Amino acid sequence: DTRDPTSLRTPIVAVLGHVDHGKTSLLDKIRGSAVIEGEAGAITQHIGATAVPLDIISTIAGDLVDPDDFDLPGLLFIDTPGHHSFTTLRSRGGALADIAILVVDVNDGFQPQTLEALDILKRSQTPFIVAANKIDTVPGWNAHEDTPINDTYESQSDRVRQRLDESLYEIIGNLSDEGFSADLYWRVQNFQRNVGVVPVSAMTGEGVPDLLTVMMGLSQRYMKEEMEIDVAGPGVGTVLEVKEEKGFGTTIDTVLYDGTIRADDQIVVGGLNEPIVTDVRALLQPRPLAEIRTESRFEKVDEVSAASGIKVAAPELADAMAGAPVRVVRDRDLDQVIDEVQAE
Ligand code: GTP
Ligand code: MG
Repeated sequence: DTRDPTSLRTPIVAVLGHVDHGKTSLLDKIRGSAVIEGEAGAITQHIGATAVPLDIISTIAGDLVDPDDFDLPGLLFIDTPGHHSFTTLRSRGGALADIAILVVDVNDGFQPQTLEALDILKRSQTPFIVAANKIDTVPGWNAHEDTPINDTYESQSDRVRQRLDESLYEIIGNLSDEGFSADLYWRVQNFQRNVGVVPVSAMTGEGVPDLLTVMMGLSQRYMKEEMEIDVAGPGVGTVLEVKEEKGFGTTIDTVLYDGTIRADDQIVVGGLNEPIVTDVRALLQPRPLAEIRTESRFEKVDEVSAASGIKVAAPELADAMAGAPVRVVRDRDLDQVIDEVQAE
């Protein structure tokens, strides 16, 4: 086999923001739009994440995205909880993502967890855009389901537009107070220097085409090189959550961002006191919705490649920690892999 073993992986997108500002709803909307397009099967539910392939993104985005302009396979979205007790998880979520969406309720504006998320993005130098969500709640709003923002904005009354503008400029002002130069996304020329603000509604789908377009454009333009991975190489990932699972004991929900993990691999995981060396017992994926009533919520798979969310069952995982690194040993020197995990 002489094929080039490197390929472009899916960029990992963390969705961050204050509690109830609409992170989960936004992902639900993206999934739901795909269902309406009759392409539900193409969206795969990963552990802690949702993979949306390029052709679905281009269907949802309509004229805004031409799939021929892109060669990244799609986007992998990681949902994070907004509650303050999840700060540490979110700080990890921010760090492991290639790019992020900071969700801000247009009426509620900046809140404590918005600032916390911003701080995490600043520290981890993760490029991000702001989704100014719930535009449908602006008093007098006249909804146009699933349309690009420009179309729906133009058909609002002057008063409604003025109200939305005020809320958006307040968000832009708040970003500026935190040291980010921001503007409405259609005015941003350089997304590395300026933060783009995209008005959206997770309820009506307005602006969602724009959001997906900006995310694809950003990933394509600024991150293509980082997306070039050796897919067949030993897997590298981060623990999202440590969970007990009936029949499997302690498991780690892992985001794999490089290489492949196999059901017979030896792995090293960052632990409370020292790196944990263990053998994978099972790799578990959520079952498709249609099979939800079957006995197990999970399905065993032989291997998974980056980028994906996967539940790893293995002995000795009790001391594993959210945010810790996970590395596959495969044919490498075990001590070297332990050193790598310790260094992270
Ligand atoms: P946590 O996970 O608890 O941090 O919240 P979240 O950010 O995931 O918010 P979630 O998606 O659960 O939404 C919170 C509430 O806001 C729900 O009642 C949603 O139906 C509502 N909501 C979310 N987005 C919109 C929107 O665009 N418009 C309107 N009208 N309601 C919305
Ligand atoms: Mg949520």
